Amino acid sequence: MPNPQKGEQANSAIELLKSSTLFSSFNDKQLKNLAKELKEKKYNAGDLIEKEGEVSVAFYLILDGEVEVRRKSKVLTKLGRGQFFGEMSLLDKYPRSADVVATKPTTCLIMTAWQWEALVLSEPKVAIELLKTLARRLRATDKALTD
Ligand code: CMP
Repeated sequence: MPNPQKGEQANSAIELLKSSTLFSSFNDKQLKNLAKELKEKKYNAGDLIEKEGEVSVAFYLILDGEVEVRRKSKVLTKLGRGQFFGEMSLLDKYPRSADVVATKPTTCLIMTAWQWEALVLSEPKVAIELLKTLARRLRATDKALTD
């Protein structure tokens, strides 16, 4: 029997993917297929989603809510709907570089490391968008260090 709630979840996932610059090169069919692969997970405010130093197995897109990226109790940045995290250790295979903590009730779409790697290898435009975001984050961190 069709589950209307599941249908709604899939639609909101597709809307999010559509609005994300990461997937601006994707057509509707590609977005639908990608949405089917993603797992949705909910967190409460205060939940530690990823811990600095841990081995990474996933990439996260924020569907709703807000997270803080923290190192040694310093807040490096806040991320919200449409933004992503977890890409650094998937790229360099080092442990997680920072803690990521939900500061509001938060829902993420999660991709396994394996799915993420296959996607980045097969879609150069996704890889370029990822690099652009990394460059912007590095600029913001440089600015915060020197302002
Ligand atoms: P990763 O190292 O896998 O896990 C922690 C995540 O926090 C990291 O990937 C990035 O997604 C994010 N992150 C770490 N440092 C910063 C930063 N300076 N600015 C924005 N995001 C960051």
